[in-house]
Amino acid sequence: MKILSLAAAALAAAMLLSTTSAHAEDCIAPSADPFDLEEADVVTLYECMEAKMLAGYTKGEDPVAAVYREWAVTATRPAVAGPHGERLLLTFANDVAAEQYLKFEYEGVEMPVGSVLAKESVKLGKEGKARIGPLFIMTKVAAGEADETDNWVYSGVQPNGKPMKFKQAFCHDCHAAFSDQDALAYPLEEVRIGATN
Ligand code: HEC
Repeated sequence: MKILSLAAAALAAAMLLSTTSAHAEDCIAPSADPFDLEEADVVTLYECMEAKMLAGYTKGEDPVAAVYREWAVTATRPAVAGPHGERLLLTFANDVAAEQYLKFEYEGVEMPVGSVLAKESVKLGKEGKARIGPLFIMTKVAAGEADETDNWVYSGVQPNGKPMKFKQAFCHDCHAAFSDQDALAYPLEEVRIGATN
């Protein structure tokens, strides 16, 4: 009897431990409204989510998901722009794109062929619980390969590593508004790398 109850107690303790650690893994923001978050809240939340995001995106075969974290980060911290589902966003630029992208120019921008931008996203759910959002990707291809979308190819990776499905126009109809910037929208001004104001 004694041994049995000891075993039961150990089991109960183990279960308690596993539920506790599952909660410890949750990343909770102090507000469910991303626009309410202070800079420090965003940074803390993102630190909690970083490894989870990468683990999710790299579950599949996406070649960008496998490497984008080694690219140039384009903002000092993630931020919420509004478009892209009010998610917290952080964009990375590959070697081909970085030099031009990081100038954040407003006119006459022509990104070199082979430029790739990859943007992580985090969505706040009920009670501020953070969830991994998609990895959004734009790839510049040679003239003539995707004329209708200014030679950008849009793609995305779901939090489970699988490719997202959508029409190119779904993304480009909005990005086309930034035509002087070669369809790039850039991070919010105050978080751009090297921003002086
Ligand atoms: C309603 C408008 C809108 C739609 C639709 C949209 N985007 Fe964006 N996108 C933006 C804005 C605004 C930004 C800049 C916001 C930020 O990063 O802070 C942006 C930024 C990006 C970036 C970073 C490069 C840049 O423009 O600076 C990528 C990559 C991207 N979007 C991919 C996609 C993909 C893929 C889709 C379709 C699944 C899509 N976008 C749909 C508005 C949109």
